[in-house]
Amino acid sequence: MSFSGENATGIDADEVDVAVIVVAAGSGTRLGHAEPKAFVPLGGKSMLAHALDGVFAMREAVQLIVVAPDAELERARAIVAASAGAAVGYTSVVVGGASRQLSVAAGLAAVAPGVGVVLVHDAARALTPSAQFEAVIAAVRSSRTGVIPALPVVDTIKRVDADGLVRETVERSELAAVQTPQGFVRSELDEAYADPSADFTDDAALLQSFGHSVGTVAGDERAFKITTAWDLARAERLLAESEGRAGTRTAPRVGTGVDVHAFAPETSEEGADAPELWIAGLHWPGQRGLSGHSDGDVAVHAVCDALLAAAGLGDIGGIFGTDDPRLAGAHGEVFLRETRRLVETAGLRIGNVSVQLLGNRPKLSPRRLEAEALLGGILGAPVSIAATTTDGLGFTGRGDGVAAVATALLLPA
Ligand code: CTP
Ligand code: MG
Repeated sequence: MSFSGENATGIDADEVDVAVIVVAAGSGTRLGHAEPKAFVPLGGKSMLAHALDGVFAMREAVQLIVVAPDAELERARAIVAASAGAAVGYTSVVVGGASRQLSVAAGLAAVAPGVGVVLVHDAARALTPSAQFEAVIAAVRSSRTGVIPALPVVDTIKRVDADGLVRETVERSELAAVQTPQGFVRSELDEAYADPSADFTDDAALLQSFGHSVGTVAGDERAFKITTAWDLARAERLLAESEGRAGTRTAPRVGTGVDVHAFAPETSEEGADAPELWIAGLHWPGQRGLSGHSDGDVAVHAVCDALLAAAGLGDIGGIFGTDDPRLAGAHGEVFLRETRRLVETAGLRIGNVSVQLLGNRPKLSPRRLEAEALLGGILGAPVSIAATTTDGLGFTGRGDGVAAVATALLLPA
């Protein structure tokens, strides 16, 4: 469904008065995650999905336009469809630009003809409550000006020169930290975007460069922008706390994980020797290893997937990516420690984990206790490891590779 073009809106132009543009086309450089920021998981779903919850929880029907990176259009469409449910006919997804302002411009071009009020919102402010959207809409309607949510600045602010020398103390009572959604009278926003005077980091600044006035409503601490890994961890914690209050973290949860890796060829196409074997966190010297972007440790990967599934946090590919250069050759400990941290941040603790290897080698029994102690120590919970051959059947029986199946039990923290 598309709103762009003359009346190609699919909805009656009189039906909605408000459009919400959610900009999600940034790359999230400062977050440093393998995928674009809006698609990074937070409490089991993407940041974008959380941002859309705030939109769809509003009482009023609105047009939603999500601005996404070119390479993520399909994923954005799926997230929008899942969040919108029956309201999917009021939504569209468009491709963003090289700056936030260009992304907003792309969204604005898709606003339906009858819309009078346009809100622009950062997907990165994923936990913004719907009351903040409603307050901005009400204030734009009553003032007929631009309106932005603002919070008082609590720190003392200094003006500092390029050499780090403090020049002056800025009067704090005149300052505000501003958030999104920022709301505007549609005609004013259209005018400013038709011929922007410069590239600004928010829409209020662009509008003011055209001499339009912009008012404020009270912002909300929960609408903070997730910019760094620290912000993401804070958001995880806030979410876990509120879910805990809602009672979703009071019951035990189980999860299942499966992984398969092929044995690496004796010599690669580039002539390199096969890597050595790492399984269940242990190095198996002298044995040909498994191929994979990391060390191919199927047991550890299956355990991580079981833990993430039990926590409702997605899967290992979604959390770590499959081609992050920092994880090339990484051993199991890296994945297990981060997975444990995510699980605990989500308000859960690990009850126990069980994993079974399927393959002809390595012969696990002589080192089973060693592996259980190692993985159990990293996860802070009992880990049981078993192994079986598959009676000569299938790819494991032929010795092409090794598989692992894991189950994890999580308990409320
Ligand atoms: N944004 C966008 N298009 C761009 C740049 C940013 O739609 N070309 C969006 C982001 O997706 C985000 C919001 O604008 O929701 C605020 O930007 P910011 O927090 O700076 O996000 P990023 O630009 O993705 O992050 P970074 O600056 O760390 O790369
Ligand atoms: Mg940015």
